[in-house]
Amino acid sequence: INDFTVENEPLLGYLPGSPEREELQKAISKYEGTQTDVPIMIGDQEHRTDLVRHQVMPHCHSHSIAQFYYATPELVQKAIDVAVAARPAWERVPLSQKFDIWLKAADLMAGKYRQALNATTMLGQRGDEVAAPSPEPAATVNKLRLRGMEGFVAAVSPFNFTAIGGNLAYTPAMMGNAVLWKPSDTAVLSNYVIYQIMREAGVPGEAVSFLPADGPVFGDAITASPHLAAINFTGSVPTFQRLWGQVGNNLAKYRSFPKLVGECGGKNYHLIHPSADPESAANGTVRSAFEYCGQKCSACSRAYVPESLWPEIKERMVTTLKTLKTGDPRQFDSFMGAVIDATAFKRISGYVQHAKTSPNLTILAGGKCDDSVGYFVEPTVVVTTDPHDRIMREEIFGPVLSVYVYPDAAVDDMIGLANDSTPYALTGAIFASDRAWLAKAADALKDSAGNFYINDKSTGSVVAQQPFGGARMSGTNDKAGGVHYALKWTSPQAVKETM
Ligand code: ALA
Repeated sequence: INDFTVENEPLLGYLPGSPEREELQKAISKYEGTQTDVPIMIGDQEHRTDLVRHQVMPHCHSHSIAQFYYATPELVQKAIDVAVAARPAWERVPLSQKFDIWLKAADLMAGKYRQALNATTMLGQRGDEVAAPSPEPAATVNKLRLRGMEGFVAAVSPFNFTAIGGNLAYTPAMMGNAVLWKPSDTAVLSNYVIYQIMREAGVPGEAVSFLPADGPVFGDAITASPHLAAINFTGSVPTFQRLWGQVGNNLAKYRSFPKLVGECGGKNYHLIHPSADPESAANGTVRSAFEYCGQKCSACSRAYVPESLWPEIKERMVTTLKTLKTGDPRQFDSFMGAVIDATAFKRISGYVQHAKTSPNLTILAGGKCDDSVGYFVEPTVVVTTDPHDRIMREEIFGPVLSVYVYPDAAVDDMIGLANDSTPYALTGAIFASDRAWLAKAADALKDSAGNFYINDKSTGSVVAQQPFGGARMSGTNDKAGGVHYALKWTSPQAVKETM
């Protein structure tokens, strides 16, 4: 690997009257005023089936923004055939030529389509050169040829970051693989915009098929194919386990051992030491727990706070939460919108209900859930006297933060709780000014999180700066957003030539 330089697109301010705000408003009006028809795309062909589905606005669930179609098993098979046939030629397109396409897509995302995508950062990165010959004397030339994998890659993406869908499908594609992309039902529209941008930039239709589908139908079809080369998955633990089990059951069928890459969520912690700055710990915790309604896999969901700092941190959190509006995201003053769908609303409001009825738990802020118009859950802070209560252990994936207030002298026991009390290891943050404790805690917590933050919130990793992913039940820790993620999607061939 030679130089791999990355330049992230600067953030825009979206202040009232700014050109970006006007453009964004225009894009919002365009997409909310029409119900976009999103076909299944296999090669250059559009397909529509009788299995019609709708993507609704979470903050106003009577309003559909997209109509789409579930792929049947026959269509998934057709996409597999197209991918397997297309892969050799696509794989042979030199990386430099592929990079030109990806750089064009990056420009389209940063320019023409920026407001249609808004959330995306994935293709702001710039790749120059990946493979280099090894220096060896005289008559031998060694090369590592970075081939794409034989067969096809299945990308199964979540709703919560548009960029994740783009990354799951198009990093394998960039490295020479043919991909079947199943987007989340609740992100079909934005993911289709990514698909269109990539086509406009030059990715051939055969290289990536766009296949909204029922999850189990898609999972059954891809894992039954002898050509399955890899699965690139972000979603829940049970779904990833199910796919892994199906691959295990079919091992004898495959032409190659499929590679499984998965990112499956977390129960991320903020551990605040008595020496921490209470203001930054409180602000960081509120942002991490509640930005994007807590629907980031990296969101802080449990906090350990020392008794000595609790009065100030509590005061700051409650005061801040009072100023944050939950509402329609089209009004730019909302800090939080609605949670994604009825299933999420039911799960999250179930935890709020648990907090209301359990003697160990007290609701400090929020607690209101209302799905009459949209799936709204107030940012909710729950204080628990039991650090092992299920609200401190289970992934909620919504705007509910649980806090355990500990006696200052027990701070080292909190390291054990942060490390061991959940099955996950995605993100974690420690806050302290005591350097010796920071060093000790960072070492003791090294297996507790794939992305570990010292004196910063547990969310907001940036491509190339903090490659992202976790271990244990959080996933295979293949770290999206770095060079070795791209290399993961190759099947390298070592070539020795004697002259
Ligand atoms: N990569 C995202 C973050 O760090 C999930 O917040």
